[in-house]
Amino acid sequence: MAEQNAVNDSESIDFEIIKNLTTEEAKAVDQLIINELSSDVLLINQIGHYIIGNGGKRLRPMLLLLAAKALGKVNDSHLILAAVIEFIHTATLLHDDVVDESDLRRGQESANAVWGNAASVLVGDYLYSSAFEMMVRTDNMRVMEILSKTTTAIAEGEVLQLLNCNNPDTTEQKYLEVIERKTAILFSAGTRLGAVLSNADKATEEALAVYGQQLGIAFQLIDDALDYKSTAEDLGKNLGDDLAEGKPTLPLIYAIANGTESEASVIIDAIKQGSRDAFNAVYAIVLSTKAIDYTEKCADEAAQKAIDALGCLDPSEYKDALISLARFSVQRNH
Ligand code: IPE
Ligand code: IPE
Ligand code: MG
Ligand code: MG
Repeated sequence: MAEQNAVNDSESIDFEIIKNLTTEEAKAVDQLIINELSSDVLLINQIGHYIIGNGGKRLRPMLLLLAAKALGKVNDSHLILAAVIEFIHTATLLHDDVVDESDLRRGQESANAVWGNAASVLVGDYLYSSAFEMMVRTDNMRVMEILSKTTTAIAEGEVLQLLNCNNPDTTEQKYLEVIERKTAILFSAGTRLGAVLSNADKATEEALAVYGQQLGIAFQLIDDALDYKSTAEDLGKNLGDDLAEGKPTLPLIYAIANGTESEASVIIDAIKQGSRDAFNAVYAIVLSTKAIDYTEKCADEAAQKAIDALGCLDPSEYKDALISLARFSVQRNH
């Protein structure tokens, strides 16, 4: 492994500098998003602008655009699909906050906290539907195949996760199956589509799909660590939402397996109960069993696999940015 490609680079990653590499294209993508949000149904405009206007890192479109730039020029279909990927992501967030009963998103009250669950679910459906309407404009059957498989897998991941909730016997393997589907596959679709629309060869397409998949796994592992160790201010989301839902994420699975009998039983009870009440006790055990360290180590390994997959790309500042974003996914605090 080349020294400069190590994940645990001590330098902090400047997300803004990376963002600047796609400023122009990102503006065009945002314009597409705004155009698409206009409906004569007022509530759709309101909720759509509320959640999309509240920011978000726009990491998924950025990855698609960087993949495209690493392979050549960005075309109109790349821009449309970058918007499509962000729409699908936003739809999953609207639905996810209902399912997770989360009331803070992107530093503001979640849409369900403001407008209620029914409105959030229905506007999430609108965003999904709009995403499909937009992708048809690329007139490319392969694109539709990739994205329809992706949304099916995301739904499977969310349902699998629901089945694991309140189940302290959930294994690391089962947890990984969930995060691969609910999160990693959308990252993977984004980077794969970047390659497909650049007419890349099959090996390059697969390499970029592996990159997105592994980065996505790292990203969700860190999200699950941050749900215990961050601050609501940094994260723009409340801590402890996973515990409140009884979600057996990797920090808890590892702490059960590696804590004393009494530590394990505190966590088992908290998962079964699905409540925030035991947050402090659970967090102390998660720390003392080094479950956060383990989760971060797993994320490091996934990010390294992502970086290794980029070996087939010619050197460029865009390739460097993709490498940095794999590291960012692990080192981030938001
Ligand atoms: C949140 O994704 C959902 C997860 C997959 C963990 P992001 O952290 O990319 O959310 P925004 O778009 O920046 O708000
Ligand atoms: C990611 O899981 C959800 C999606 C892929 C939609 P989380 O439930 O952990 O995401 P956050 O923490 O609410 O953003
Ligand atoms: Mg959630
Ligand atoms: Mg989370």
